[in-house]
Amino acid sequence: MSNEAIALDVKQLCVRFATPAGQVHALTDVTLQVRRGETLALVGESGSGKSVTSLSLMRLLGGRAQLAGEAWLHSGASAKSAGSAGSAGSGAVDLLALGEKPMMKLRGNRISMVFQEPMTSLNPLQRIGKQVEEALTIHGMGKRGEVRERAIALLGKVGISDPASRAKQYPHQLSGGMRQRVMIAIALACEPAVLLADEPTTALDVTVQAQILELIRKLQQEAGMAVVFITHDMGVVAQIADRVAVMYGGQIVETAPTAELFAAPKHPYTRALLDSIPRPAEGGALRGIPGQIEAIVGAPTGCRFANRCTRAEARCSVEVPAQTQVNEVHSVRCHFWNKV
Ligand SMILES: Nc1ncnc2c1ncn2[C@@H]1O[C@H](COP(=O)(O)OP(=O)(O)O)[C@@H](O)[C@H]1O
Ligand SMILES: [Mg+2]
Repeated sequence: MSNEAIALDVKQLCVRFATPAGQVHALTDVTLQVRRGETLALVGESGSGKSVTSLSLMRLLGGRAQLAGEAWLHSGASAKSAGSAGSAGSGAVDLLALGEKPMMKLRGNRISMVFQEPMTSLNPLQRIGKQVEEALTIHGMGKRGEVRERAIALLGKVGISDPASRAKQYPHQLSGGMRQRVMIAIALACEPAVLLADEPTTALDVTVQAQILELIRKLQQEAGMAVVFITHDMGVVAQIADRVAVMYGGQIVETAPTAELFAAPKHPYTRALLDSIPRPAEGGALRGIPGQIEAIVGAPTGCRFANRCTRAEARCSVEVPAQTQVNEVHSVRCHFWNKV
């Protein structure tokens, strides 16, 4: 992977929360890279650490979170068209080392996020056009006279028909799919180098979901953004991702190009996830993986998946598996990956 193409380079990200029950090790040594124009899917069951990953990159975790590691954002000239104002500069910055002030300049500008439930991120009392305008003006994108036009153009670009009159509506007057389009318009307003999409289609029905996935894909290709697409849905992964990182218990347990991951998964958890994809012959019901995700209190003492793994041996619960390269593009954390 050439260094130049890398937009986001996360190294050994660790996140802990102090709770009454003890230290929750929400993330342990999360390492990932995303190139410009690439979509990396972050998949895993609920509680595996997907949202904590994206929120720590946005620096939106509360004060109770302790972060360690590095997260380099390379925002070169690529994603941002030349001449657009409001740039926080090119070059690389470590998102985890930035003060709140410089972070505010980057957030929503060079790195943006789309959440699952747009209703919680949109202001219910403000017309949507104004909210898009604000995203532009905060980062100095566009002068007074032209910002309204730009906002309407953005709404049109994300597939909202008759954007000029839609811009005058309030969030509650829009459908869920339309609101998610507005959120995408806001996230993309400043042409970020990196877009973090945290289950952006989970709350939508299948048809609308397909439209939103298609929209993100299209906008990404136009702008050359790096996208981290968080989902628990392997069907969505197959549809949208170039590469996949599988999370379990706050760690990335396997990373591979999408086709390779589906064809030759190495981690028992990835296999279980793929086996749980509903098949039409079975009436479409999700089969699920036996056992429960373990609470991640305390540092890992072995493989987090050991207690649910059909393949586990004594070593698995006492020795944390290292990240091992299966080949140049495929890595796995399992003591027995080449024996299963
Ligand atoms: N503010 C917090 N305080 C304590 N624990 C938290 C906090 N936020 C998240 N966690 C824990 O971190 C783990 C990962 O959560 P999360 O990233 O939200 O999972 P996912 O998005 O994959 O469903 C969970 O065990 C969750 O309980
Ligand atoms: Mg989540």
